[in-house]
Amino acid sequence: MKVAALVPAAGSGQRLGLGPKAMVEVAGRSLLARSVAALHPHVDEVVVALPSGLTPPADVPARFILGGDTRQRSVLALLQASDADVVLIHDAARPFLPPTVARAVRAAAVQHGAATAALPVADTLVRATADRWEERVERQGLWAVQTPQGFVREVLLGAHLDAERAGHLATDDAGLVRWAGGEVALVPGDARLFKVTTPGDLRLADALARQLDD
Ligand code: C5P
Repeated sequence: MKVAALVPAAGSGQRLGLGPKAMVEVAGRSLLARSVAALHPHVDEVVVALPSGLTPPADVPARFILGGDTRQRSVLALLQASDADVVLIHDAARPFLPPTVARAVRAAAVQHGAATAALPVADTLVRATADRWEERVERQGLWAVQTPQGFVREVLLGAHLDAERAGHLATDDAGLVRWAGGEVALVPGDARLFKVTTPGDLRLADALARQLDD
């Protein structure tokens, strides 16, 4: 059984405003280099989708392909570039992947066909209009979905091709499998798997990286 890690890293990083987000460094090492290093021990190969015009970084041991204009298209290109039986999809923008989560997602993907790391929501949730509290949303049974997400490759490829034909856009791959009618297993994620999106996240990532690199 061949297992590949597929890393969509082709985003423009518009919200962060520091160029392609995957190449942004925390404590001297890029988000992409950190994500790939964390994935490597768990897979047979790593394939990364980069934005056009970006030279593949020398410090990242992976095969590189050109990403698409959406995350979904980048993942489809990655799926078509790999012949693995099982794939772990992991955002480059989540650089702190604990080995226990990688192992659990991989095992659940093999067992169930589709699985994702996720965390039960801890905060109070409300629906709001502009900045006005409208109503509280019951948080019982709600989970925040992270990556890595693991799949039997044929399961995810089928969902992507159906979505491409239907013009359906999802923000993540487990959501696509569910949209296509498949079952998705949830495995315990980790707070360290937060996605670096805003300047505040970057400061948090920098502090965490310094602590972990010590
Ligand atoms: O923009 P966002 O943070 O949701 O992106 C999640 C991941 O998807 C990032 O690692 C980003 O580089 C990747 N992405 C991609 N291709 C795009 C847009 C985003 O690979 N066109």
